[in-house]
Parts: sequence; C-alpha cells; structure tokens
Amino acid sequence: MIELLKKRRSIRRFKNIPVEREKLEMLKEAALLSPTSKNLHSWEFIFVDDKDMIGRLADARGQSSAFLKEAPLCLVVLGNEKANDTWIEDASIAAIIVQLTALSLGLGSCWIQIRNRMHSQEVSAEDYVRALLNIPREYRVVCLIAIGYPAEEKAPHDSTELRWDKIHLNKW
Ligand SMILES: Cc1cc2nc3c(=O)[nH]c(=O)nc-3n(C[C@H](O)[C@H](O)[C@H](O)COP(=O)(O)O)c2cc1C
Repeated sequence: MIELLKKRRSIRRFKNIPVEREKLEMLKEAALLSPTSKNLHSWEFIFVDDKDMIGRLADARGQSSAFLKEAPLCLVVLGNEKANDTWIEDASIAAIIVQLTALSLGLGSCWIQIRNRMHSQEVSAEDYVRALLNIPREYRVVCLIAIGYPAEEKAPHDSTELRWDKIHLNKW
C-alpha cells in the first residue's frame, strides 16, 4: 500500500486508448466498496466514456479542467446532501479509492474540483455539470475524476520530501 501511495501522482495527459471493460467494472466496484457514514451511501457515480460528453465536461472549469478532453473515461462523483451531512466526506473517500484502484490497474487519474468552483462569472461549475448530465438538484457535484492510460511519467513521491512537520505526537 505505501508503495502505491508513493506512486500516486496526478496524471493529466492520457493515451488515446480506451479503458477495458473489466477494468471499468473494477472501478465501479471500488466506488461501491468505499465506506460511508452510518452506511447511508450518500454518493452516486456517473461513469462517462462518451467522447463528446467528456469534451463538454472538460469545459467545466476552463484551464483547470481542459486536460479532461484527452481522457477516455471520466467519473463524476456526486453526493446527496439530503441523505447525510457527511456527503462531502463520503464522496471524497470514494473518489480517492477509485483513484488508487485505477493506479493499481495501471491507469492514471486526476481529481478536478467542481464543488465551490465557477464555470463562468454567472454559472457555477456544479450547475454546468448538472445541466449537461441531467442531475437532479439535491445531488451535489463534488468532483470529476479523469481516468486513462498515462501519457506522462511522474516521479513517485519521496519519503524524505514529505511534510513531516504536519505530524504531531500526543499533543499539538
Ligand atoms: C480536493 C482536490 C482538488 C483538486 N482539484 C484539481 C483541479 O481542479 N484540477 C487539477 O488539475 N488538479 C486538481 N487536484 C490535484 C492536485 O493539484 C494534486 O493532487 C496536487 O498538486 C498534488 O500532486 P500529486 O497528486 O501529483 O501528488 C485536486 C486535488 C484535490 C485533492
């Protein structure tokens, strides 16, 4: 696990190769295996492999999301704020679990923040994504996860370069 965590880097360039069906099924299973507060499953997931729709999702946040256009697969992570007040935590845990599972399958991925971000001066990124995918109002859009075979190599994280000053023992 620690080796996987060191290898995990945000990948923003992808090869023009689709994600195989078996791998897609494993990513779906990984999402559903993620824990939720009170076991209430406040999340929903939309897997998008339609190239045209991925292109439109890539416009959600201008330059911050433009790289999604190249990805063969996009996971839209939603939370139902009426289901539980931990919807952000539930959705975020699922998102990172899918990212780590993707890595374990040889795929790269990157989180694209949607919640609390704007598409334009008037339209929130959430409303933009909601309208594209027909998502009901009570479902909040936490993030998009771009997924695909990496077309860039990134050095793994190095233990010696971690922010060890963030770790406290027994008291602050
Ligand atoms: C909550 C969250 C939001 C993020 N939003 C974006 C984003 O909108 N666009 C993007 O390109 N990367 C985004 N990232 C990726 C981070 O920039 C990246 O994880 C960080 O720079 C560390 O690099 P690493 O993932 O390679 O270790 C986000 C990551 C997290 C955890």
